[in-house]
Amino acid sequence: MNIAYGLTFLFSMAAFVGATDTGNPGFVVRLTQKGLDYALQEGMIVLQQQLFQIQLPDFSGTYDVGVLGKVKYRFSSMTISSVQLPSYQVIPVPDKGLKLSISGAFIQVDGRWDVRYSFIHEDGSFNIKVLGISISVGLILGSDESGRPTIAPSDCSCHISNVEVHMSGTIGWLVDLFHNNVESELRQSMENKICPEVTQSISSKLLPLLQTLPVTTKIDQISAIDYSLTGPPSVMANWIDVLLKGEFFDISHRTTPPFSPPVMSLPPEQDLMVYFAVSEYLFNTAGFVYQDAGALVFNLTDDMIPKESSMHLNTSSFGILIPSISKMYPNMLMKLKISTASAPALNIKPGNLTLSPVGNIQAYAILPNSSLAPLFLLQLNTNVLAKVAVNSGKIVGSLELDKVEIQLVQSDVGPFSVSVLSIAVNYYVSATLLPRVNEILKNGYPLPLIEHIQLTDFVIQTYEHYLLFGANAHYE
Ligand SMILES: *[C@@H]1O[C@H](CO)[C@@H](O)[C@H](O)[C@H]1NC(C)=O
Ligand SMILES: *[C@@H]1O[C@H](CO)[C@@H](O)[C@H](O)[C@H]1NC(C)=O
Ligand SMILES: *[C@@H]1O[C@H](CO)[C@@H](O)[C@H](O)[C@H]1NC(C)=O
Ligand SMILES: *[C@@H]1O[C@H](CO)[C@@H](O)[C@H](O)[C@H]1NC(C)=O
Repeated sequence: MNIAYGLTFLFSMAAFVGATDTGNPGFVVRLTQKGLDYALQEGMIVLQQQLFQIQLPDFSGTYDVGVLGKVKYRFSSMTISSVQLPSYQVIPVPDKGLKLSISGAFIQVDGRWDVRYSFIHEDGSFNIKVLGISISVGLILGSDESGRPTIAPSDCSCHISNVEVHMSGTIGWLVDLFHNNVESELRQSMENKICPEVTQSISSKLLPLLQTLPVTTKIDQISAIDYSLTGPPSVMANWIDVLLKGEFFDISHRTTPPFSPPVMSLPPEQDLMVYFAVSEYLFNTAGFVYQDAGALVFNLTDDMIPKESSMHLNTSSFGILIPSISKMYPNMLMKLKISTASAPALNIKPGNLTLSPVGNIQAYAILPNSSLAPLFLLQLNTNVLAKVAVNSGKIVGSLELDKVEIQLVQSDVGPFSVSVLSIAVNYYVSATLLPRVNEILKNGYPLPLIEHIQLTDFVIQTYEHYLLFGANAHYE
């Protein structure tokens, strides 16, 4: 039954868009400052672990300690025992990317010291607190040739303001030795290693996560949604807009839709972490694809009509309305072939989602040898109201019939007044067709989300030509 995917399209929105022709996207993901702050907070947990990986070299040398002559010293086995990142922020830098700053960070290093002079060997432990570490790194946002988002570090710098050391044992001059001979080297070594660890976490953790964006999402045997980025994300003072193509296409032969995405002017809302603007273009490319694939056809037969109904699909029932039917084809079952005359289009306006599909109904009598005898052809001008909601990261929809007007296009059973069929047609459309369509729309379509992201606190609003979904995100 083609309607299964056929009508799916109506709401197959879950996606997002961006059009090559006009440059307008079919889908926009807007990340607000609140969203960036949340992402940074999660990122700091990763960076903190990364900084534990820093390997510090041993420091050794000789030192003249007067009466004792020259001593050989060594500071070794240095390991990081604590990393704290108490203060950080990320700021969008319009047209450039993001600037990430960390200040007042603290790293504690534990290690061993030993000194040798003549026949004497002494050793012990030490503990170094590296204080007031500030790190600043630029993040350049882009997109690769597959349309996936990219992120790359730039201009990383690191500064350490203070190093405190505590040594076990009783050798007073060892602390001086550390400050005079080792501290600046250690500080240099640390400053040189922090940026590589920061950039390493960006390229080995953050980039692969962003690249999990599903740029092509298969919907069914006929279609898939293209979620690829139409270009690098646009960075504004208060948010980042990621423009996606947001277009349905036929898996077996992709063609360019005969229409372009409309302009979407997003409201300056910032209460939630992320907003998804879904253009009516997305839905309409779905309508185009399914219509073009010949999938928007539904054959209604008597076994689909509820048993208790008084409107069974047979020539005796219809003979009550149009007597010539039962005279010409006594006691036969009937079949209605319901199809769309052209690709259905969703119209999104503030407060209203409507579809006005034009449909055809061809009625047949099923002859004893199973061949079909045409009875009449109707044209339906319908008005359908659509509702959308979000359910576990998916956009779900439902349709409700607002009104149907029918016209007789052709009769093979002599003239009759089409008005006698209006109750029957309304009944078949609202009691058999729409429930089946709604069953499909209930499955929903996934939003283009990177892995491990769950959305909560959904709000939905309708604007001229698009739907806006707002949500908070959780990384799991
Ligand atoms: C619907 O019925 C027509 C006429 O019998 C047939 O050609 C067509 O294949 C059927 N389509 C579906 C989807 O069952
Ligand atoms: C035709 O439908 C009516 C109800 O609409 C039912 O009473 C009757 O038995 C059906 N006839 C056939 C031949 O199925
Ligand atoms: C929404 O559509 C319905 C039915 O077409 C119409 O009666 C109503 O006035 C519309 N509401 C708005 C806000 O446009
Ligand atoms: C089925 O029966 C009708 C009427 O009896 C006849 O015109 C038609 O040719 C038959 N079709 C087939 C495939 O036998």
